[in-house]
Amino acid sequence: MAEALRVGIAGLGTVGASVARVLAEKAADLTRQCGRPIVVTAVAARSRGKDRGVDLSGVTWFDDPVALAKSADIDVFVELIGGDEGPARQAVKAALDAGRHVVTANKALLAKHGVALAEAAEKKGVLLNYEAAVAGGIPVIKTMREAMAGNAVTRVFGILNGTCNYILTRMEAEGISFDECLKDAQRLGYAEADPTFDIEGNDTAHKLSILSSIAFGHRIAADDIYLEGISNISQADIRAAADLGYRIKLLGVAQKTESGVEQRVHPTMVPTASVIAQVHGVTNAVAIETDILGELLLSGPGAGGNATASAVVGDIADIAKSRPGFQHGPVFGRPAKELKPYKQAKMRSHAGGYFIRLTVHDKIGVFAGIAKRMADNDISLESIVQRAVADDRQKNVILVTHETTEAAVRKAVDGITRDGYLVDKPQVIRIERAG
Ligand SMILES: NC(=O)c1ccc[n+]([C@@H]2O[C@H](COP(=O)([O-])OP(=O)(O)OC[C@H]3O[C@@H](n4cnc5c(N)ncnc54)[C@H](OP(=O)(O)O)[C@@H]3O)[C@@H](O)[C@H]2O)c1
Repeated sequence: MAEALRVGIAGLGTVGASVARVLAEKAADLTRQCGRPIVVTAVAARSRGKDRGVDLSGVTWFDDPVALAKSADIDVFVELIGGDEGPARQAVKAALDAGRHVVTANKALLAKHGVALAEAAEKKGVLLNYEAAVAGGIPVIKTMREAMAGNAVTRVFGILNGTCNYILTRMEAEGISFDECLKDAQRLGYAEADPTFDIEGNDTAHKLSILSSIAFGHRIAADDIYLEGISNISQADIRAAADLGYRIKLLGVAQKTESGVEQRVHPTMVPTASVIAQVHGVTNAVAIETDILGELLLSGPGAGGNATASAVVGDIADIAKSRPGFQHGPVFGRPAKELKPYKQAKMRSHAGGYFIRLTVHDKIGVFAGIAKRMADNDISLESIVQRAVADDRQKNVILVTHETTEAAVRKAVDGITRDGYLVDKPQVIRIERAG
């Protein structure tokens, strides 16, 4: 039997403790699958006294994750601390520089420093595996990097944040407000005490930036992603979407266009009959559209100790199975030095259908005025309906456009706002084609 693979785990929280437990409980199966044992030899966390629900006797304890990363007694450094700077970044860099393989679930770190870390890994000929960083337990990185070799990706999109999908699902199913859903999500542990990062789309953007880099071979550009969160989605939007045959999801979309790559995160209308519209609650899903395969949809648990540990353990097992000279290819699918600069397609040139909901004064001429603004901007309408609202001096006007551009829609809505028809902020939601 080959020598054991020695693993050091930094971070023993939700994910780290689950990884340690799974490696212990599945030791015999993993040894058979990998042809060698996988043994946790060292760990690091902040408080030594805390019960982690796993037997750590005989395992060397480090207070400092950087010291663990540099230790000569490990072959793989597993980073499960989190954060894009501080100990996580320092320890991962130290491990790579010391020639250790690294496994991480840290999307924030990769979104910010992924290319530099990939260069460090490739320079040393070690693996930097990060399956758990995007969509938790769903093996999307492996699928894109390995199983889809030879495919040219045209679009990748998905539901990448369980908190947002949980809130939108409950708003639709129970007719309750965003604020009420958020409070419940926090009570049940599906949302953080400070949920901004999730609900404003930043977490989705981190994951999307990694997928886009693999899909289109550009350097990670998380800061250039167009971002809109879900906090201004109302029951009026959800009900109007349902009436029109759509469901609202927070999607991250990366798409190749003639002028570059669009990367955008925003509430999106998807047809109710599409597969991605059936993804409910905290579940994640990623759709990958390619020239050879067509559209593939992967869905499953995007977070949680066990689901995330499944991806981390898979990454560790890949390292146990790898042999020098026969590895799984470069970190982001191409050598890090060959990743192109990101050529950003401007949001104003985004082409697609739009849902526009306007709350207007119920006066003669308003409806005609809105239709004229649309026509003046060459926007052709699939439907336009008026709905009464509780206050009988107001009306909801709901428009669905055929394919047009973001620039045209913004110009038309600005014009309508200047015309003085509106009693509330206009709502504009993009419609995404989905199979
Ligand atoms: N939770 C999920 O469902 C999930 C899903 C996908 C990806 N991830 C990613 O996985 C990573 C870990 O997430 P998590 O939810 O497991 O976090 P967590 O529960 O907060 O655990 C963080 C761990 O890091 C340790 N730690 C913090 N600062 C440290 C330091 N300076 N030195 C040593 N140890 C330190 C903590 O030690 P103490 O326990 O002693 O305080 C704790 O064990 C993050 O990058 C996250 O984005 C999480």
